[in-house]
Amino acid sequence: MAVTINGKEIAEDVVSKVKLSAAKLIEGTGITPGIAVVIVGEDPASQVYVASKGKKARECGFHSEQHTLPAETSEEDLVTLVEKLNADPLIHGILVQLPLPKHIDSGRIIQTISPDKDVDGFHFINVGKLGTGELDTAFVPCTPAGSMLLIDRVLGRDLSGLNAVVVGRSNIVGKPMFNLLLAHNATVTIAHSKTKDLAALCRTADILVAAVGRPQMIKADWVKPGATIIDVGINRIPAPERGEGKTRLVGDVDFADAATVAAAVTPVPGGVGPMTIAMLMANTLVAAYRSAGKTPPRF
Ligand SMILES: NC(=O)c1ccc[n+]([C@@H]2O[C@H](COP(=O)([O-])OP(=O)(O)OC[C@H]3O[C@@H](n4cnc5c(N)ncnc54)[C@H](OP(=O)(O)O)[C@@H]3O)[C@@H](O)[C@H]2O)c1
Repeated sequence: MAVTINGKEIAEDVVSKVKLSAAKLIEGTGITPGIAVVIVGEDPASQVYVASKGKKARECGFHSEQHTLPAETSEEDLVTLVEKLNADPLIHGILVQLPLPKHIDSGRIIQTISPDKDVDGFHFINVGKLGTGELDTAFVPCTPAGSMLLIDRVLGRDLSGLNAVVVGRSNIVGKPMFNLLLAHNATVTIAHSKTKDLAALCRTADILVAAVGRPQMIKADWVKPGATIIDVGINRIPAPERGEGKTRLVGDVDFADAATVAAAVTPVPGGVGPMTIAMLMANTLVAAYRSAGKTPPRF
């Protein structure tokens, strides 16, 4: 039976290190790491994410600002706000909560964020740095960065000789995950909806990362014995056993089934999810250290 990778505990470790390092920076330079989270509109899920990011930032000892704009905000007004935050010395990390309302070009907004404050790691400069292995100066998107840290805790930093398969090729999870695994010397294959015989491909993986958005798609017979599985998926499914109309969260991996074959698996919830917000704090801290001309801690 596989070991359950405790993302909650590892995320708490990361946050403790962020807190200590933030206190050190404040004491040594007088600079308090600052994060600005921008939200446009009233999407309830986005409101919850933004509130939890603000809470975590305050817990880390950061200066934290939330800018809540009405759904009808114009693209120009949002660009103006981002430019203002780019120039604000109290702010080291800027996060614009996605999705944005349809009339706003999210690509333009993301490219307006200064690459030095792009703690989500979506700016082309940071995407390019990750793609060329410039990890010391890049910002890496938080979910893949957190997933990589979980792999690191199970298998160590050097993945030489190991085969990794990433299922999903999105810009926010699959592709950066591919580049991170490659940077850590794994032999990486990226799969997607057009991949032939996905199950057979997954069975070659010593490290299997699922970022698909299909509830419990990956079963035990897709898993190589002894594999490490990182389940990025978050899917809500009906849970009539909990009462009428109730739901529960599951990943892209059938946890109980896959755990009979794998060596280590992340649960959903409690795996990758808590790592994402912890890595946002880590990226903001790193941004503040860099702006102060100091060497940031490694996570
Ligand atoms: N834990 C976290 O903090 C966190 C953060 C971000 C996302 N997530 C979750 O991670 C999952 C993926 O997110 P995302 O933003 O990367 O999703 P996305 O943009 O929808 O991408 C999904 C990827 O999965 C591929 N795919 C879809 N169906 C497939 C199938 N049947 N077989 C093989 N590949 C298939 C797609 O292939 P094509 O490219 O060919 O269409 C696409 O590349 C979602 O459940 C999301 O909620 C979690």
